[in-house]
Amino acid sequence: MKKCATLLLAFLVHASAQAAEVTIRIDASHPGPVISRYLYGQFMEHLGRDIYDGAWVGPDSPIPNRNGLRLDVLQALKDIHVPVIRWPGGCYADEYHWRNGIGPPDERPVTLNMSWGGIEETNAFGTHEFFELVEAIGADAYVAGNLGTGSAREMAEWLEYMTSDSHSTLAELRRANGRDAPWRVAFFGVGNESWGCGGNMRPEYYADLYRQTAEFLKVSGERPKKIASGGHDALTTWTEALSQVRTNIDGISHHYYTTPSGVWAAKGSATEFAEGEWISTLSRALRVEDHIAAQEAILGRNDPEGRIGLYFDEWGAWYDATPGASALYQQNTLRDAFVAALHFHVFHRHAARVRMANIAQSVNVLQAMVLTQGDALVLTPTYHVFKMYVPFQDAMSLPVSYDELPDYVLGQYRVPSLSATAARGTDGKLYASVANLNPHEAAEISLTVAGAPLKRASAQVLTADAMNSYNTFAVPGAVQPKPFGGIVVAGSTLKMTLPARAIVMIGID
Ligand code: AHR
Repeated sequence: MKKCATLLLAFLVHASAQAAEVTIRIDASHPGPVISRYLYGQFMEHLGRDIYDGAWVGPDSPIPNRNGLRLDVLQALKDIHVPVIRWPGGCYADEYHWRNGIGPPDERPVTLNMSWGGIEETNAFGTHEFFELVEAIGADAYVAGNLGTGSAREMAEWLEYMTSDSHSTLAELRRANGRDAPWRVAFFGVGNESWGCGGNMRPEYYADLYRQTAEFLKVSGERPKKIASGGHDALTTWTEALSQVRTNIDGISHHYYTTPSGVWAAKGSATEFAEGEWISTLSRALRVEDHIAAQEAILGRNDPEGRIGLYFDEWGAWYDATPGASALYQQNTLRDAFVAALHFHVFHRHAARVRMANIAQSVNVLQAMVLTQGDALVLTPTYHVFKMYVPFQDAMSLPVSYDELPDYVLGQYRVPSLSATAARGTDGKLYASVANLNPHEAAEISLTVAGAPLKRASAQVLTADAMNSYNTFAVPGAVQPKPFGGIVVAGSTLKMTLPARAIVMIGID
């Protein structure tokens, strides 16, 4: 008995010694920029099983669908309030010719998708199917035009086909193909990764091509925002060249993918990893803030009035290929939930300039929202972060600071042990999310809100048994949000014990 008591005491001492105590301060009286809902955007490409055998199974499929679009995928995307979808690529955008994807499906040509394995592309999913998808889930359309193998004329004609309410031959063709009213193209991109798969161009050459092309992208109704294809990672030359374009430009895209190793040829496994790759991945995810800061410095100099937004239209975790799976299919663990949350916290802090972000990609590809197998669908840990964070869409960001935030350190990697974000939602409520990056140690948190009285708080927590826990078709609920009790409201402070490797989303009245 005495021995048990001694052991218990030793455990309690050990546990309390390990729990870091941190005060997080939210200043509700000094709101920052609005967190655009477009930061919660999606990206879908003709790649692997993102579209075919993913979101789109065809109207003859036994899987419940609406004109070929899987009902369960539509519902899942609707539930996370997807605000925008970028399509048809990616690299594929620069080989896509839109006329192949209209008209009776059995008359559409079969082409080859040379970007992703040279596979046969039936073109069964084209412009009409894409707009049915975005309209079904209530999202805006971000259409990526083909600069690499296309032309200003081809892009201008595609825009006319999609948006004209005239009686031009192209508008009439759209009607003949079943769509009377023009569609709304909210965003139009000119090429993709033009430094690489989009044509191996130099930034100055692309900037001139952009100037020329964007001049002809005219519509008679609401003008889409025009997005230039920019750089990636720490590269700034593209932002430098494109931020000097004076007309017809609303955004410059930028891409950043997170890998555990930082070595493209051996990125690391999606599921088989130890703590070293947990921290290396989170550390690399956090580098997005430096990459943004580097672009912001240039934009601040060349575009001080803030005409041009930074569009992270591809981001997310990218692991080694899964043997035997479709292209770029990867599982999605609790670690990916953290990759998503950390990106959002950074995007929120830079919401004045970062106006869109599109995770790669929605279904069965890279850091997906959902995975499908036959008629089964599983929601990923990343999906749950998107769902928990819905209240941040179009919310007003609030400054967050910490008193003595301890680091979480392992080997050569050092990251802050906590990451928090806060905002006032469109419903007037305060929202805060705190992620504990330390996979072993809980944290005692005092969350102090200045400038707003606190009455009560409710919260959800996303965590799991292990860093590499994930949802499978057999066990779809291994990583899913659960109600989080134990928040004590004391005056203007919320007190809680944040478990190790957990993300807690709090709504405060
Ligand atoms: O998302 C997969 C690919 O990554 C995209 O097609 C390309 O733009 C990027 O390199």
